[in-house]
Amino acid sequence: EASDAKKMIEAHELLKKFYHHLLINTKEGQHALDYLQERGMTREVIEQFEIGYSPHSWDFAVKFLKSRGFPLDLMEKAGLVIRKENGEYFDRFRNRVMFPIHNHHGEAVAFSGRILGEGQPKYLNSPETSIFHKGKILYNFHQARLHIRKLQQAVLFEGFADVISAFKAGVSNAIATMGTALTDEQARILRRNVESIVICYDGDTAGVEATLRAAELLEKAGCYVRIAAVPDGLDPDEYIRTYGLERFRHNVLEASGTLMAFKMAYLRKGKNLQNESEQIRYIEEALKEIAQLSNPVELDYYLRQLADEFSLSLSALQQQLERYKKTRT
Ligand code: GTP
Ligand code: MN
Ligand code: MN
Ligand code: MN
Ligand code: MN
Repeated sequence: EASDAKKMIEAHELLKKFYHHLLINTKEGQHALDYLQERGMTREVIEQFEIGYSPHSWDFAVKFLKSRGFPLDLMEKAGLVIRKENGEYFDRFRNRVMFPIHNHHGEAVAFSGRILGEGQPKYLNSPETSIFHKGKILYNFHQARLHIRKLQQAVLFEGFADVISAFKAGVSNAIATMGTALTDEQARILRRNVESIVICYDGDTAGVEATLRAAELLEKAGCYVRIAAVPDGLDPDEYIRTYGLERFRHNVLEASGTLMAFKMAYLRKGKNLQNESEQIRYIEEALKEIAQLSNPVELDYYLRQLADEFSLSLSALQQQLERYKKTRT
């Protein structure tokens, strides 16, 4: 119901402001503020992303929402409180750093709460609700949209912390998924706003695999994709904290390459190309990738590149390529 949705959003907006106040102005929130500052989050980004703190209490939100006249059964549907068997309610989010999640109009519709330090779950998210569909929302899209349009490019990250660190580095066109794989719906939303997407996922194995899946989805949606690979198994936020903003911009974002170059680099990893049999294995794996390309210009480009690099005849590569094309997976 429309008026229910309105109330659910209003509750998120009010709680967001209160959580933010607790983080910034109270003794209760001091350890959370310390935690964020140790992570390199400045006052400015804490304001910009409206980060907050949910106190160490079972009924802070319950009391707060009740006192402002929100029906608790509706607040349960909003994912903010949980109902016990005996009919009492308690807070979903306790003693966590609170990242508000906004819909694309900029209204707060959910939260992701990070534990302070180590522990499980690291991020506790609002459940799916009538106002929050994880697969349809991109984190920070409401703030990034105009920049995305102006720059004609979006940078897609895995984590909220990456978006926030990147913003600090002057990357205003940054967005992220909700801790889940990119969906078709999100790819279509992006394509409606921009053609060129840079994927900048974590540099670990999970991040590499997620990069390949996201790139495929985005290309299918009609996007032009580039990959900004983060080295040493770091994620973008860790990279920025280790090497600084300038190096991130220059060595990661501006050094972004094509999906095929990323795949080739991935295939090379752990292979000694001085070794003959490993070299042959690399060439065959690379050819299989090239055979998947549907754009003949691109296909020709990478084939020549491979021929040049290993001083092979183009016709031999072409012959082998035809075989792989027939067995397209
Ligand atoms: P930090 O440790 O705070 O820097 O987080 P991160 O963004 O680097 O986390 P990670 O790379 O492990 O995961 C990427 C994204 O997945 C996060 O931003 C979250 O959205 C999501 N995620 C991570 N851990 C959890 C979890 O325990 N539960 C859920 N639901 N989502 C998670
Ligand atoms: Mn906002
Ligand atoms: Mn990760
Ligand atoms: Mn990460
Ligand atoms: Mn991280």
